[in-house]
Amino acid sequence: MKSDAFTKLIGGLAIAFALPLILLIVIPFNHQSSLQPVPYPEGQEVDGGMAAYPDATLYKVGESDYGAKIYAAEGCAYCHTQVVRPTYAGPDMWRRGWGGREEDGLARETRPLDYEQEEIALLGYQRIGQDLSNVGHRITTRELMHQHLLDPRSIDADSGMPAYKHLYRKSPYGKGWEPTAKAEALVDYLLSLKKDQPLPGVVTTGG
Ligand code: HEC
Repeated sequence: MKSDAFTKLIGGLAIAFALPLILLIVIPFNHQSSLQPVPYPEGQEVDGGMAAYPDATLYKVGESDYGAKIYAAEGCAYCHTQVVRPTYAGPDMWRRGWGGREEDGLARETRPLDYEQEEIALLGYQRIGQDLSNVGHRITTRELMHQHLLDPRSIDADSGMPAYKHLYRKSPYGKGWEPTAKAEALVDYLLSLKKDQPLPGVVTTGG
């Protein structure tokens, strides 16, 4: 009798753990790791002639791959996400510029394929600062991006973002700071963040 109850307990526990694991991890993983780029319908010119979504060239700006590693190492993901959530899960789409190019009607939520070119998807942990999925559309110059990293309070006096002064060095030519190679790569990466490539009408995954 006793061992029967024990077997039931173990069996129950196995099901209680296995079911969520299969439903939440194994099935979505299998589904999303087999996603393929989706071609645009013939003759449809998108953003100057891209052939498919996602477009491999979009995320390769300068040193942006190295920049992504700096982003990870510096802990930016502790305060910044890179997921524009569907409206049922959060107000991201109501925040100006978070979803991408509103003026062109291209703002949208993030889809799994948007991360296809990334070695590690830097989804983020908390939303203390803005979502950075489309920050490349909001801050468009290297100067402003550097200023934000070097001295966030010079842009927003109440900024809760730490200054990343260790990515800069004092300029040998007098006053001021100049970026290290790490800061340049990080800025390349940030300027490349544009997760609003137009979706072909047929993309149905990840909705
Ligand atoms: C302790 C939390 C914190 C960390 C860590 C952090 N940030 Fe921020 N960040 C913020 C906050 C809060 C804001 C909003 C205030 C502001 O604009 O300065 C912000 C704003 C920004 C903006 C401007 C976004 C916009 O839409 O205007 C950029 C770009 C940015 N952060 C990049 C980074 C990068 C890159 C790193 C890592 C090197 C980083 N942040 C680390 C909190 C953080």
